[in-house]
Amino acid sequence: MTTLSVNGRKHAIMLPADVPLLWVLRDHLGLTGTKYGCGIGQCGACTVHVNGEPVRSCTIPVGELDGAAVRTVEGLSPDRSHPVQAAWIAEQVPQCGYCQSGMIMAAVALLQRTPAPTDADIDAAMTNICRCGTYQRVRAAIHRAAK
Ligand code: FES
Repeated sequence: MTTLSVNGRKHAIMLPADVPLLWVLRDHLGLTGTKYGCGIGQCGACTVHVNGEPVRSCTIPVGELDGAAVRTVEGLSPDRSHPVQAAWIAEQVPQCGYCQSGMIMAAVALLQRTPAPTDADIDAAMTNICRCGTYQRVRAAIHRAAK
């Protein structure tokens, strides 16, 4: 059994220790805002926070997370009013939208570490992949959220 706090709620996870966190979130807790893209830690669609740090949840076995605090995109704000979400809407960032919850979680983590990031800071931190190519709007939204 693994005990996790997810978006402030405690859960006892009765699954094999090698099940990736992504599938615990999506299939067992119903938190489908976190997306599956590559499954090998490269695209960032599955980004969530573990103990405040951005991680790629497809590569982390749940058994390694006993006692951890997990935050998903659903945990940012009940009405999408988190400053990063508001900036995403204002800058009309998403096209297809699939990668955007991971992008937003990566951006929130960046702004927690670096409240006023430069373009270079953003480019270094935002390694998530967007097949629609929304990178310029991601950058603009992060600058807007930083104000
Ligand atoms: Fe996890 Fe791509 S699905 S990094």
